[in-house]
Amino acid sequence: MSTNRIIKIFDTTLRDGEQSPGASMNLAEKMEVAQALIDLKVDVIEAGFPIASVGDFEAVREIASNLRGATICGLARCNDADIDRAWEALKHAPSPRIHVFLATSAIHREFKLRMDKDEIIRRAIAAVKRAAGHCDDVEFSPEDAARTEIDFLCNVVEAAIDAGATTVNIPDTVGYATPAHMGHVIRSLRERVPNIDRAVISMHCHDDLGMAVANSLAGIEAGAGQVECTINGIGERAGNCSLEEVVMALRTRHDFYHADTRIDAQRLVPTSRLVSSITGLQVQRNKAIVGRNAFAHESGIHQDGMLKEPRTYEIMRPEDVGFARTDLVLGKHSGRAALADRAKALGFHLTGEQLQMVFERFKALADKKKDIYDGDIAALCEQEFWNEADQWSIVSYAIECGSTVKPSVTLTLRRGSTERTETLTCGDGPVDAMFLAIEKITGVSVTCRDFRVQAVTVGKDAQAEVSVEVMHEGIVYRGRGVSTDSVEASGMAFLNAINRIEIGRNPRLHPQHSA
Ligand code: KIV
Ligand code: ZN
Repeated sequence: MSTNRIIKIFDTTLRDGEQSPGASMNLAEKMEVAQALIDLKVDVIEAGFPIASVGDFEAVREIASNLRGATICGLARCNDADIDRAWEALKHAPSPRIHVFLATSAIHREFKLRMDKDEIIRRAIAAVKRAAGHCDDVEFSPEDAARTEIDFLCNVVEAAIDAGATTVNIPDTVGYATPAHMGHVIRSLRERVPNIDRAVISMHCHDDLGMAVANSLAGIEAGAGQVECTINGIGERAGNCSLEEVVMALRTRHDFYHADTRIDAQRLVPTSRLVSSITGLQVQRNKAIVGRNAFAHESGIHQDGMLKEPRTYEIMRPEDVGFARTDLVLGKHSGRAALADRAKALGFHLTGEQLQMVFERFKALADKKKDIYDGDIAALCEQEFWNEADQWSIVSYAIECGSTVKPSVTLTLRRGSTERTETLTCGDGPVDAMFLAIEKITGVSVTCRDFRVQAVTVGKDAQAEVSVEVMHEGIVYRGRGVSTDSVEASGMAFLNAINRIEIGRNPRLHPQHSA
């Protein structure tokens, strides 16, 4: 095997990642993520599953028609309607790919598809041929490959390549494989499939046993040339292989893998933050590469070693993955240009109008808080992407509460040019009172399923970041809010979730919204 292989990064944040419960994105959000993936220099973006919904179709079509710099891929089952719909969405992309999949394992054949092996091969061939009639770049996935009999898997893969597949993706759909198992599967395909050199072998591993990255790396070691992954490892159930982890494993252990990717690693942290803020799926603090603690050293012995020589306890430099070298950046007297510069370095491309809004909030924050950290600036910028016209925002609130009195809240919300105020005595505490007042004013009732508060940066005056998860008419919506005042941050997060519900209900605002 060549000593310096370039492994293709196939990002499926917008397709498999979006299948994380509650992580659905609207069109504008998908475009934002797709542009960030292009800036990150991924090779392929799986933009959606066009036949699944109008929202998915439009997202794939818009990304394919408007963005440049990566292959744009759309998913399809092995039937004509799916494949033609995928092509309809992809046809304006300079580099389109159709990805067809069909389950091959015994359990899927018997219980889900009720098809025998011959029928599976026949359908796979027909689907690949139809896709190849639309474009040259066709990927075939035998779904649940890791649980498929190896002889049959070799037969299906050979048939798909003969029919025109240029990439054969080997999914561990249910996260069942181990690294040794996945390595064996890929080696077997390379040894036993006579036409295997005509296609790129791809890995697609799920994380149900926490081994998605290790399994993908084992496949790469055995000769796979593409890895399918998502930002922050989001995806169906326990998620997919994490892009940032697999990329940095290859780069940091180049001595072992002799392989690299085209990824601009300094964009990893900004991209991770963007996806987290758009989907509402928080990154755990100790998450490898992009977690807030990934480069934090607590023990005295480690700190001493770090001061003497960072390589004693760090195998990567934080700045190499996009953490800012110096955390303390701006203060009360900083101007708009410095803010724009910092926001750009953190991965936020603000329009003039957005910058003005962020700058006003930055000044207000600088009045309340002495030190403004990168985390604060990222939080202010993220808020801007939520603040679209026609959405509810908090104008003012006042709450009286205590251990012996029922909370009483006066809240004013604004949407467009309308302001509404309610005064209520209600709730178990100030946050509950705030939520009830928001429901009253907006007329949207929800069930709160999760509520979390954490500090964005450090110190007593740190901003609070609140995430909420609410249920409305059977659908889960997430919201996020940031403020130095934790009750206000809670209200902002709750309102953010309500705004998402309103967007879904009002086609005038976002006709493309799918969930
Ligand atoms: O996990 C899986 O099998 C998939 C396929 C559609 C590739 O996501
Ligand atoms: Zn998957």
